[in-house]
Amino acid sequence: MTDKATLTIGDKSYDLPILKGSTGPDVVDVRKFYGDSDLFTFDPGFTSTASCESKITYIDGDAGILLHRGYPIDQLAEKSSFLEVCHLLLNGELPTAEEFAKFEHNITYHTMLHAQFDSFFQGFRRDAHPMAIMTGAVGALSAFYADSLNVDDPKQREISAHRLIAKMPTIAARAFQYSVGRPFVTPRNELSYSENFLRMCFSVPAEDWVPNPVLTRAMDRIFILHADHEQNASTSTVRLAGSSGAHPFACIAAGIACLWGPSHGGANQEALEMLEEIGTVENIPAYVQGVKDKKYKLMGFGHRVYKNFDPRAKVMQKTCYEVLEQLGINDPLLEVAMELEKVALSDPYFIDRKLYPNIDFYSGITLRAMGFPTNMFTVLFALARTVGWISQWKEMFEDPSRKIGRPRQLYTGATQRDYAPFENRG
Ligand code: ACO
Repeated sequence: MTDKATLTIGDKSYDLPILKGSTGPDVVDVRKFYGDSDLFTFDPGFTSTASCESKITYIDGDAGILLHRGYPIDQLAEKSSFLEVCHLLLNGELPTAEEFAKFEHNITYHTMLHAQFDSFFQGFRRDAHPMAIMTGAVGALSAFYADSLNVDDPKQREISAHRLIAKMPTIAARAFQYSVGRPFVTPRNELSYSENFLRMCFSVPAEDWVPNPVLTRAMDRIFILHADHEQNASTSTVRLAGSSGAHPFACIAAGIACLWGPSHGGANQEALEMLEEIGTVENIPAYVQGVKDKKYKLMGFGHRVYKNFDPRAKVMQKTCYEVLEQLGINDPLLEVAMELEKVALSDPYFIDRKLYPNIDFYSGITLRAMGFPTNMFTVLFALARTVGWISQWKEMFEDPSRKIGRPRQLYTGATQRDYAPFENRG
């Protein structure tokens, strides 16, 4: 394979280097193209553009493959734990037993929030969407942890990364408890990451809280499945915000804001609401017809990168069954979901467009069964994705070729003209 591409425009030719990755498509390096040719490349939505070099996550969307640092997502979901995956994403390798003990200790001992932070929550309306609270609260962390904001200091970057991974469950649980009018629950250091989170969400002072290993494992697995997904919209937002040297809490708050959109992390809430709207299996054909008439989209279906089954959706489906069985729940929405999936996978509209179920399709039913209201679904996604965001942010700072992100444009507005007073306008 050649190591350069040649682009001919009129009577001029431009040689563009081809850079090779360890797997996946090579890239045409256009960094010097504008300087040489006075032309920009045009790619709104970044459908053909690699925005950075990364060693963290690899996706082959056609084959339905997702690897973190080389490890397949199904193996990690089956055999690993969320905190181990956090170490893997942040530091590049699965930890030794000793490294893991140290990492777990570090995260565990950063889970508490500054006592004054609790009064910050009281400023929100009780009916505020918890994602609105998350965006504000995570941004506000910088006002409480100002000792780790120097992004040029690797040690401070590490401390901020640990603080974010550790404190997100505490903030998310408080956002939830606040919305339902229950007192905040202090983290307990003897519990695992996911057990601690579930306790902070669901325990009440009036009785002892008993962990359920199946639900703890399901929570941990859901966190693993959402931990990172290379350069998606929210991760690219975090990188772009970070490229200006903004501190990590601001960057993660920006990522949370982006994730909230219905085409991204907001889709799990919308997918469940869609299943509720369909209600029963008999209503599926009419609903699918509405999708084909482009009145609305089938939420939980389709993906920019996966043109095959989202590998996370398969694990999510299995987890969904485990949780419903453990809780003895016979959710009629599961029947609607299974039938809808069957119809969509056999309909030429979806086949031709390569629209397969994504992770959000089954996560909503699972989370609902676990006791989370729909408006918490995206919060759980944000909690899990924080490690991906902060790992990508950290990688950006370790890249010597880091530059502030500054896209260009195809300008189609008015060309230069002279200002005119009111009487000469129109
Ligand atoms: N339902 C119906 N039709 C769809 C859907 C869908 N969910 N997704 C895409 N299409 C159609 C489009 O209308 C388009 O049809 P056309 O060729 O006739 O115009 C075609 O498929 C291609 O779609 P695009 O919008 O170009 O695909 P894109 O890659 O831009 O969008 C996206 C990907 C945003 C995820 C889209 O599939 C979608 O909106 N899905 C529903 C929301 C969702 O589930 N999001 C979760 C994503 S996963 C995550 O964030 C964890």
